[in-house]
Amino acid sequence: MADLDDLREGTDFTGAVARAGDFPLKGLAGQDWGMRARLSRVFDPADGKTVMLAFDHGYFQGPTSGLERLDRSIVPLVPQADALMCTRGALRTTIPATSGKGVVLRASGGPSVLGDLSQEDLAVSIDDAVRLDAAALAVQVFVGAENESRSVKNLTTLVDQGQAAGIPVLAVTAVGRDMVRDARYFRLATRITAELGAAFVKTYYVEEGFETVTSACPVPIIIAGGKKVEEREALRVASRAIQEGAAGVDMGRNVFQSEHPAAMLAAVRAVVHDGLTAEDAFDLYQQLSFERSEQLAR
Ligand code: R5P
Repeated sequence: MADLDDLREGTDFTGAVARAGDFPLKGLAGQDWGMRARLSRVFDPADGKTVMLAFDHGYFQGPTSGLERLDRSIVPLVPQADALMCTRGALRTTIPATSGKGVVLRASGGPSVLGDLSQEDLAVSIDDAVRLDAAALAVQVFVGAENESRSVKNLTTLVDQGQAAGIPVLAVTAVGRDMVRDARYFRLATRITAELGAAFVKTYYVEEGFETVTSACPVPIIIAGGKKVEEREALRVASRAIQEGAAGVDMGRNVFQSEHPAAMLAAVRAVVHDGLTAEDAFDLYQQLSFERSEQLAR
């Protein structure tokens, strides 16, 4: 039984209304507590930025280079990421439940690289997302492609389910083969998905006018790393995206296909969270790579 002997009346009622604290993510302060708590497992609340490690590629391309054995290539990198972007298959089979990382669960799928990728449907139930303790759900949207409306329906269905369960939705702007990857297209695609309820949006960086994309989108934008390029170039793109308003990166191939994935992830973190210039981050990458090579040679 509770101890009723010494029930003390509260006396400290002075001062203004207590503040719950500002929420660091653009456009999301009005979301419910559970939604904001989950977003805080994706974005570091200290600076409102994220480095997401993406390794969901297998859901349409199988064991691509660097992802042949998730246990060997990805699991050692998990501690360095703010959040993980993956499928439920990868999560259940390979990722330790003790990692403590926010999981952005790939929730759409269907066609493989052998087919038309825009013919996706939702591929995870909200119940399973809750069971997996997903911090967010990711769905691809093909603005301007043949299956545009179908993919938009996937987004809005998932947003409805996510809002009910307190799980934010990441809209992934997928660029169809015929679409021009420019700021005009990404302004259109990102704004549409945010208007339709996405809590954050993933897009690609463009050299001209990227700040107009981030400025016109009322929720945070993160960039995909894209195909593997030289480390110096990937860091330059990440750095420019952050300077031009991105709230982080969702990087896959430029990490796990790097010769030194852990060094690359550390360098990306330095750009996103510490504001290192691309050149300084590249120096860090080289230094960490060298140290790693020395360790292995011993
Ligand atoms: C595509 O498979 C996924 O949406 C990836 O998570 C996304 O493209 C990020 O991976 P990458 O940096 O390799 O483009």
